[in-house]
Amino acid sequence: MGGMSGNAVRVALLGCGTVGSEVVRLLHEQADELAARVGDRVELVGVAVRRPHKHAELGELVTADAAALVTRDDVDVVVEVVGGIEPARTLLLEALKAGKSVVTANKALLADDGATLAEAADSSGADLYYEASVAGAIPLLRPLRESLAGDRITRVAGIVNGTTNFILSAMAASGSSYADALEEATRLGYAEADPSADVDGYDAASKAAILASLAFHTRVTAADVYCEGIRAVTPADIAAAGELGFVIKLIAICERTPAVATQPESVAVRVHPAMIPAAHPLAAVDGAFNAVFVEAEAAGQLMFYGQGAGGAPTASAVLGDLVAVARNRVIGGRGPRESAHANLPVRAMGTVPTRYHVSLDVADRAGVLAGIAGEFAHHGVSIAAVRQTGGRGGGGGDARLVVVTHAAPEAALAATVQVLSGLEAVRGVDSVVRVEDLGRTAPEVGS
Ligand code: NDP
Ligand code: HSE
Repeated sequence: MGGMSGNAVRVALLGCGTVGSEVVRLLHEQADELAARVGDRVELVGVAVRRPHKHAELGELVTADAAALVTRDDVDVVVEVVGGIEPARTLLLEALKAGKSVVTANKALLADDGATLAEAADSSGADLYYEASVAGAIPLLRPLRESLAGDRITRVAGIVNGTTNFILSAMAASGSSYADALEEATRLGYAEADPSADVDGYDAASKAAILASLAFHTRVTAADVYCEGIRAVTPADIAAAGELGFVIKLIAICERTPAVATQPESVAVRVHPAMIPAAHPLAAVDGAFNAVFVEAEAAGQLMFYGQGAGGAPTASAVLGDLVAVARNRVIGGRGPRESAHANLPVRAMGTVPTRYHVSLDVADRAGVLAGIAGEFAHHGVSIAAVRQTGGRGGGGGDARLVVVTHAAPEAALAATVQVLSGLEAVRGVDSVVRVEDLGRTAPEVGS
């Protein structure tokens, strides 16, 4: 092919499962096009897996010795699609120390210790790319890292876990229970045998940490992210959201808060189920799809949407990174380094303003509503709307009371609910779901 130096860019692949097998397929099927785009051929020189006997199709490329592969002299780039913290961290650090560029889809590792990887890349002058780690095929990290590098991002909010979005969408569409929707997600191959990383929100929290780090030029780890999953969401919660013109989604929210008085500028990063306005673009994202809404001072509102998981979609993002690092090798440059210069503090969840939708089972008698309203007032929480259903009016029975608040610090809201749950007139706190307007001009509940 014309213009090529004849020095192929040599790639070692770690992992050949759902994503890795698609990377191998695309590398073979698109070899000529990739060569044209990179300026030299991209050649797979080794594939490390855990059980080589299961990968006979890879022939002599396959090895169980990933540690030897990542430092081999005939390797220029290491692509890691194994997952988990170890041995991936040690393997990638060894690769970077040896001057190899790294492409990884490993959100757990990046959210746990991305800074160490970035420092190792800086020390050796190698590239570290990880587009596939958040929202699969959706080009999102490069827009944050490069296209929006001249802007000031104020919020990133989105649906970044396909499994939980599938479950919540199924519950909303059919009224099915969480357990039934999870079973369907497992049958269709979205949820894994152990679905806890998805349904407990950890997968989304890792992605939120990566998004916040890039958006706010600040190191944020998974441990900084407040995280609640979807196990407690009930069909009644979804129906209650629908009555208000809202839908329930597992949302990752990364926000920058400007400095106020003695409080410095800060960031807050959280993942939890939330009622969002049905008119918000994120509300229309159904099934296993992902979507992320980015707000920047100059650019305004941007939305990124597409397939957030799956072998081929994720491999597309891996290949995009591989072309970028291979090009850098060919022309002798480097991609963007980690940008953590803002070094903003991460706010504790208790100080973050949120809104609650609280559903209570209460005694239906004079003074109960006043007592409950008084507890909200006592904690400095302003009520936006109250609705009572059930009860017989004459006293003695129970009624369902729904209270929707205005925004208040999370700690004040949580303390109010704690006190309410101990009141004699409150038979039970049936559910607490946060309400997020996400900056849209949707009608505020209660106004
Ligand atoms: P799989 O479980 O399908 O594949 C993992 C691969 O890693 C297997 O080939 C396995 O070998 C190999 N492996 C496991 N342990 C080792 C080890 N110690 N040394 C060498 N190889 C090892 O995972 P996925 O392809 O689904 O995910 C890979 C990465 O991509 C993860 O970080 C994941 O979070 C990320 N990702 C995945 C998405 C998806 O939709 N699947 C979407 C976005 C990101 P063997 O085949 O022999 O068992
Ligand atoms: N388990 C993840 C999801 C895969 O459901 O979105 C993509 O990271």
